Amino acid sequence: MSGILVIGGTGFLGSAIVCELARRTASADFCFTLPTRRRERAKHLLVLPTARVVDADVHDPATLARLMAGQDAVISLVGILKGGEGEPYGRGFARAHVELPQKIAAAAKVAGVRRVLHVSALKAATDAPSGYLRSKAAGEAALMAAGLDLTIFRPSVIFGPGDSFLTLFARMAKIAPFFPLAGAEARFQPIWVEDVAAAVADSLFRSESIGATYDLCGPTQYSLRELVSYASAISGHPRAVIGLPQAIAWLQAWAMEFIPNGPMTRDNIRSMRVASVCDAACALPFGRSATALELVAPTYLHS
Ligand SMILES: NC(=O)c1ccc[n+]([C@@H]2O[C@H](COP(=O)([O-])OP(=O)(O)OC[C@H]3O[C@@H](n4cnc5c(N)ncnc54)[C@H](OP(=O)(O)O)[C@@H]3O)[C@@H](O)[C@H]2O)c1
Repeated sequence: MSGILVIGGTGFLGSAIVCELARRTASADFCFTLPTRRRERAKHLLVLPTARVVDADVHDPATLARLMAGQDAVISLVGILKGGEGEPYGRGFARAHVELPQKIAAAAKVAGVRRVLHVSALKAATDAPSGYLRSKAAGEAALMAAGLDLTIFRPSVIFGPGDSFLTLFARMAKIAPFFPLAGAEARFQPIWVEDVAAAVADSLFRSESIGATYDLCGPTQYSLRELVSYASAISGHPRAVIGLPQAIAWLQAWAMEFIPNGPMTRDNIRSMRVASVCDAACALPFGRSATALELVAPTYLHS
């Protein structure tokens, strides 16, 4: 039997990856182990016959060692957008994006699991303007230093049913008469969740991907203003978008940090100072073409 440990496999992207892998391996003897902090939130994955959802604290080295034992590969997907303030990054980012990859690398080495696939973020860099991007870069570096058979994926923002991006704008358009928007001119090159899942699944089975880092983008670049206008129009609630001046945007983000699950932080604003777009012509690995946002978004944004 082949065992794949998917850490962060219960989330938006992780669920798509696990479904894609389960589909591709349906006739083979595979088992996907998905640790979670809250099993009841992963109900949608319990129906997969080859997925095993387990309550586990992946930050605990002993638990991680137990989960890693006997696996053939690990997919590392844990990521957060709110990790607090701090230099070079807030405590939450340090724990989820840096210390966890370090622990994964250590546990993988002890268990003899050589193959690791890791999802980072486009434009992660040690000198990036946000703690999110700096911590993602540190996580990549920790895994690279471990000498494993590593593949890294760096997506721009990801869209698809259940995303916290276009879906959020479409939902807000239902209740808000207009959008006062921070970072309205920030650039993104959104990629469909199924394209990311396919890239990860392809890579798992192709040794050419070992040592590779793939920047993953969709076919088109947009400003945040364009994406918000589009999502609100497609959802049937077209709304005017009003770009906020920097000082007001900053104040708004600071105030939102006090709201549980608030939609924006100051660190998010800093992240948007770098264009989340592919520098070179974007090509997905293994000759795949990225799917246009306009082909997919209407299928799940229509109200
Ligand atoms: N979505 C995007 O637009 C996007 C763009 C670029 C990069 N990425 C990266 O892609 C990865 C997956 O993103 P996603 O959108 O699928 O995220 P998501 O839906 O929020 O899922 C996050 C996953 O990580 C787990 N997790 C979150 N915080 C954790 C913590 N502190 N400790 C342990 N487990 C934790 C969650 O497990 P539980 O079941 O325990 O909640 C869940 O399985 C992340 O690394 C993210 O940075 C995402």
